[in-house]
Amino acid sequence: SDPGLVARARAAKEALGDRVFVLGHHYQRDEVIEFADVTGDSFKLAKEAAARPDAEWVVFCGVHFMAESADILTADTQTVVLPDLAAGCSMADMAAIDQVEECWDELVEAGVADVTVPVTYMNSSAAIKAFTGRHGGTVCTSSNARTALTWALDRAGRGGKVLFLPDQHLGRNTYVRDIGGALEDCVVWDPHRPMGGLTPEQLRDATMILWRGHCSVHGRFTVEAVEAARQAIPGVRVIVHPECRHEVVELTDEVGSTEKIIKTIAAAPPGTAWAVGTELNLVQRLAAQFPEQRVVFLEKNVCYCSTMNRIDLPHLVWALESLVDGRVVNPIRVDPDVAHWARVALDQMLALPG
Ligand code: 13P
Ligand code: SF4
Repeated sequence: SDPGLVARARAAKEALGDRVFVLGHHYQRDEVIEFADVTGDSFKLAKEAAARPDAEWVVFCGVHFMAESADILTADTQTVVLPDLAAGCSMADMAAIDQVEECWDELVEAGVADVTVPVTYMNSSAAIKAFTGRHGGTVCTSSNARTALTWALDRAGRGGKVLFLPDQHLGRNTYVRDIGGALEDCVVWDPHRPMGGLTPEQLRDATMILWRGHCSVHGRFTVEAVEAARQAIPGVRVIVHPECRHEVVELTDEVGSTEKIIKTIAAAPPGTAWAVGTELNLVQRLAAQFPEQRVVFLEKNVCYCSTMNRIDLPHLVWALESLVDGRVVNPIRVDPDVAHWARVALDQMLALPG
């Protein structure tokens, strides 16, 4: 990256000292990760955000829903900054709050809302998290989805249901692969169709009502790519993120959050070959970090997460230098009522065992 910008970022961080805390998600570019005080998956970053109450500013190098959660979890005296407001998440955008409220109204009408517990993936707007908090549910991330879903099913009781938002794949993979549930217990709620496109019988018989959302990056990994990797590299271990489609996940050796993918590869003996199905910035970094292993990208036709990539060094320098000049650019401020209820759902997640 541009040496002039690197020097400016360094100087601005030095000038701000402990007043600024920079968080970086594992999918961020190398040029940004270099300046992160802490890197992590979305669960680790949610916990870390609250860990430095003395920092006036938390510069969040990640996407909008993560910065919103950080704002909710940090002290009122702290301000969270997202260096580029266009860093959203296509999956989070697939569940709008009015669609989710409409879905709930239909569940009430069908007589099943009483026995339904909402679980929302961290990758959702603060409004969806608030909806979840109001209805006694929990947030989850890819690293605690199993515990969260077990908790929710237990809370729903015998014959109860979970409304899982907004990633159908994480919901299905967790229910079937981690909990041992049956694929037939899952139905998909399509927000663009009346009654989600479901019959009353389908709704009555379902245990998992999966919102029709997916990640535009992870949804592109294919069964053919897993087969091709196994053919090309004998003995290869395939590891993917649980946002991948169920038929892909079923063929892999390991599934896990970004943090788990890193730890699994770090712990493997030298000479292990890996085909990794997650965002490209992370896979390239892993390949460079563990040269004694062989780390390859699972699929030729998948690219970077374009919104994660919006945060680049020029945006980070702009955000940091503005703070040095006494200006806060791109503050993320969640409406207090929404923040209150979203915090209920986030605290529920943080209180889960393990
Ligand atoms: P993690 O929870 O593993 O950090 O994943 C977040 C994400 O956006 C994956 O696409
Ligand atoms: Fe959203 Fe997918 Fe990008 Fe993660 S990788 S931030 S889920 S679009």
